[in-house]
Amino acid sequence: AVIRRSDYRVPDWLVPDVTLDFDLDPALTTVRAKLAVARNGGHDRPLRLDGDGLVPLEVKVDGRSLTQAEWHLEAGALILPLPGAAHEVETLVELAPERNSKLMGLYASGGLLCTQCEAEGFRRITFFPDRPDILSRYSVRMAADKACFPILLANGDPVEQGDGEDGRHWAIWNDPYPKPCYLFALVAGDLSCNRDRFVTMSGRDVQLGIWVKDADLPRTTHAMEALKNSMAWDERVYGREYDLNVFNIVAVADFNFGAMENKGLNIFNSRYILADPDTATDIDYDGVEGVVAHEYFHNWSGNRVTCRDWFQLSLKEGFTVFRDQNFSADMGSHAVKRIEDVRILRAGQFPEDSGPLAHPVRPESYMEISNFYTATIYNKGAELIRMMALMLGPERFHAGTDLYFDRHDGQAATCEDFVRAMEDGGNIDLTQFRLWYEQAGTPRVRALLSHDAATGRVNLVLSQIIPPTPGQPEKRPMAIPIRVALFDRESRANHGDETLMLTRSEQRFTFQNVATAPVLSINRGFSAPVIVDTNRSQADLAFLSAHDDDPFARYEAMQQLMVNVLVGQIGGQPVDESAVVDAVRQTLIDPALDSAFVAEAIRLPSEAYLGDQMPIVDPDAIHDARDALQHRIGAELEPLWRDMHARLRANSFSLSPAAKGARKLRNAALHYLVASGAADGPLTAFEQFDSADNMTERQAALGILANGESPERIAAVDIFYNRYCADALTLDKWFQTQAFALHPDTVDLVEKLGRHKDFTLNNPNRVRALYGAFSGNQWAFHHRSGKGYRLVADCILALDPINPQTAARLVPPLGRWKRFDAQRAALMQAQLQRILSQPGLSKDVMEQVRKSLD
Ligand code: ARG
Ligand code: ZN
Repeated sequence: AVIRRSDYRVPDWLVPDVTLDFDLDPALTTVRAKLAVARNGGHDRPLRLDGDGLVPLEVKVDGRSLTQAEWHLEAGALILPLPGAAHEVETLVELAPERNSKLMGLYASGGLLCTQCEAEGFRRITFFPDRPDILSRYSVRMAADKACFPILLANGDPVEQGDGEDGRHWAIWNDPYPKPCYLFALVAGDLSCNRDRFVTMSGRDVQLGIWVKDADLPRTTHAMEALKNSMAWDERVYGREYDLNVFNIVAVADFNFGAMENKGLNIFNSRYILADPDTATDIDYDGVEGVVAHEYFHNWSGNRVTCRDWFQLSLKEGFTVFRDQNFSADMGSHAVKRIEDVRILRAGQFPEDSGPLAHPVRPESYMEISNFYTATIYNKGAELIRMMALMLGPERFHAGTDLYFDRHDGQAATCEDFVRAMEDGGNIDLTQFRLWYEQAGTPRVRALLSHDAATGRVNLVLSQIIPPTPGQPEKRPMAIPIRVALFDRESRANHGDETLMLTRSEQRFTFQNVATAPVLSINRGFSAPVIVDTNRSQADLAFLSAHDDDPFARYEAMQQLMVNVLVGQIGGQPVDESAVVDAVRQTLIDPALDSAFVAEAIRLPSEAYLGDQMPIVDPDAIHDARDALQHRIGAELEPLWRDMHARLRANSFSLSPAAKGARKLRNAALHYLVASGAADGPLTAFEQFDSADNMTERQAALGILANGESPERIAAVDIFYNRYCADALTLDKWFQTQAFALHPDTVDLVEKLGRHKDFTLNNPNRVRALYGAFSGNQWAFHHRSGKGYRLVADCILALDPINPQTAARLVPPLGRWKRFDAQRAALMQAQLQRILSQPGLSKDVMEQVRKSLD
């Protein structure tokens, strides 16, 4: 069944109040729900309460038990004809949390009981109109065995607790803020707490708690710092204050996504809470900070103002990603954060936008909403907010967000509501800009610069093409803000930074008083999520890679220089590799640059990104060309790498931006040193692996060794396993590093690792560590034998009955067959067909496979 945005209707019944009573047990939990329901408008339709796998043991209306003839089930939902305007409906159901392997609804994880309701998990807990535009006040009572589940948590504020019979105890929690059921949560378990407090700007004293297994307590300090920083940041930057007396976070080991913003009780995948230097990389630390902030920020962008329906998902996700990105930039480096975010967008969202699963930021239809928690909704959605912020400028943008929060507080809103608040609060017309929500596909902007020496005039002709996407063969021109600057070749001066609005298919912009032909810096700061084609020479790019004063544009010039060399070489064109080597050298010796930026700038584009630049991806040719260039950069600059690697060794561990930057650059130096082929390369890598006092350097060294062939490789893989096999999150890195390895035998190794005793399909992190990483390893996954495709298809088929959401996430890489040669395309399609022919396939996998074959 396809759900369409245009089919939206206001709810037939509202549910102002909910009382839930849980008798918790992993094997058999009972849930008694009392719903105050109120007819919404003058209709005579029955009450429909969604359910998924539920059987009502009791149904009461206004205290009277109904007979079986008075209700019926329809596609899992409970249908009750009700006579009056308002009633109390009571249901009783039984659940078996320990058998819930989908990790949606109430489930068991590592001895805990916890919930995940977004998007449609609440209907697996109790009968309820499971849609985000029904806001209810919740009171929750939970009882459980006190020895096994000493801690009982739910949304809102704790009200009362006590002991019961037979070693059981109970607690009551009340959430005063009306909320959609997808924000419901409870947790029961044996947990220890990192406690802290935060006093809000209006003086509310908030008790903060991060709840984990006792042994993990020392690994929660970074998350707590991030939480307090987030709370202060949202007050300072958006004027948003926390609104309850407690804020709890719980870490669980089995989780389908990163984390969940349940009101007052965020539940996290433990990988985004736990961090210490021995087991977490700097990227992991940043991930903890970013996700803690993201979920906290949802308290306003998501909870206080929620979504009317799931087509509006980007209303909360795009905006909240934008908020967490800016928070992280403020906590560290704006330049490096922007580079990282663009890299993520290009690696995840651009391919989605150019393939069979492309969809607008506000989709028109879906089969399974879980499949729409995508890079388009999240990351492209964030870019849309960023463009509006750029067009408005900071003051007017914040006038817009203030208006948005004021106007829609306590409501279920739409993307249109957000845009209108920007228009009204920021005094701008966004009529054409709205197309960004409607049209899928990454726009291609072509920029042609010409200079007339006689008149001193520069003409910049910008044109745009938005490629066809499924269901959208024709596109209208969009409103695209493009930041540009012109540089004088001699003086290196910038003639001035300007934001040009490209609104037509083709447009000409003129600049006066430019004596000599300037160098064009374009899409500075990545002002729009587009692909830019220019007529700039390699010399211009080299100039910008050394002199552009916008850090993103400088990085981008270097990347483009590298792409041109590699793609040219693969296409058999004569290229000058020395331009790349020189640009890398220039960047390395520029004293004005910080290490983290340098490490970003000198890194070669990934094999997948290079593939995206070619009409037909040739994974082997890409690998060989990139490998050769890496070798050349390594060899020609060997003394520099050697010196940097030695010089950047730290005496003691610190998480300061400077220390993180130094580690990043040191790892890059090691990478190139080993790529140079120097005889002592593997030994140097092993020495770093062995002596590092932090995971950033240890895992990088392991990864570098895993790419090659050496006795050190075998030793390091072994040592890492023995040292960390008892820690699930760190063992994930062991699987992931091997699955990522640019090694000719990776596909066989992954097959073997799939049978390893520590591999399990029941833990999504482990599945992603092995198969998720592998399917992102272009060279290995697209092994010409087709073995890689078969491995991933096998995994999807085995995982689907256990956890369809996580299984469906593995489909998109197989769906990119159109981008590959006929032989590979046929092998990929054959695996998609094989999946499709499996009887009893989930809706999740079905939707992704069908669309991928179209
Ligand atoms: N709202 C969560 C977040 O981004 C993600 C929840 C996704 N869960 C799901 N089952 N689709 O913060
Ligand atoms: Zn989110």
